[in-house]
Amino acid sequence: HDHLITSKQLTREDIETILDRAAEIDADPSAVADRHTNTLLGLLFFEPSTRTKMSFETAMKRLGGDVVDMGSVESSSVKKGETLADTVRVIEGYTDALVLRHPKQGSATMASEFVDVPLVNAGDGAGHHPSQTMLDLYTIRENAGLDDLTIGIMGDLKYGRTVHSLAHALTNFDAQQHFISPESLRLPREVVYDLHQEDGGAGIREHESLEEVLPSLDVLYVTRIQRERFPDEQEYQKVAGEYQIGTETLEAAGDDLTIMHPLPRVDEIAPEIDETDHAAYFEQAHNGVPVRMALLDLLLSDDGAADRRGGESDE
Ligand code: CP
Repeated sequence: HDHLITSKQLTREDIETILDRAAEIDADPSAVADRHTNTLLGLLFFEPSTRTKMSFETAMKRLGGDVVDMGSVESSSVKKGETLADTVRVIEGYTDALVLRHPKQGSATMASEFVDVPLVNAGDGAGHHPSQTMLDLYTIRENAGLDDLTIGIMGDLKYGRTVHSLAHALTNFDAQQHFISPESLRLPREVVYDLHQEDGGAGIREHESLEEVLPSLDVLYVTRIQRERFPDEQEYQKVAGEYQIGTETLEAAGDDLTIMHPLPRVDEIAPEIDETDHAAYFEQAHNGVPVRMALLDLLLSDDGAADRRGGESDE
């Protein structure tokens, strides 16, 4: 695949190829330090990011390449009204691959239709965030294994793009998925429909309470309530602060429970949890580098990339 837009496009084999490559790189990053010299990655972030942007930058540099960064919406010509289509068409001429984060769902699909270099969706509104999913799966594989997995996914399941991408990807594995949220933040019905189609529905359950499933979980994936996506602040206030995890919550959890969070967190996980063996969220964020190195390596090494480089040298 030349573009990575959603985890739905990935088979189990694709996912395992990415995770295995990431594990190889993780074991010996110096072996790939010169693998993509003279390669430039374009960063187009129309929304804030710390981890995704910085780990893609770190990944490209650790592969011997470099990045060019559009900067913020405020400091770019987006501010003058330039369209996303024009922006990506221009920046693909400067670079070998693009990473795009944008507030509008579907924007990465649209943008990918205008470019030939590989484009990675780094979050399109409440849509998808597939490179996050790869580091999530990597972390799950390391801590709990991907088969015979029981996972609770909790919080803002309506707007959480990391949740949508992860849930689709997990249908490729023998995973029981428990979705825990207030009624108003349940998974969108179209996502549930797709998950049932992909999975036969066997592994999908929805709950309003963590209590009933916590003892059975191998992994608890906690998410932030996505305040910026609520059309109405009052609706946010109704659910803000729900589903917080403290040390007392964990009394009912198994000793081996792994707690994950895509971060940033606001108040969903108490800081006391950070020092326990349950906490895997900082490790998860660190896994973003080898996993994105693997993704970039695979996207930049395919035949299409070689053809494009050949084409460019003739111009
Ligand atoms: N997990 C994640 O996407 O973090 P950032 O928004 O900081 O990139």
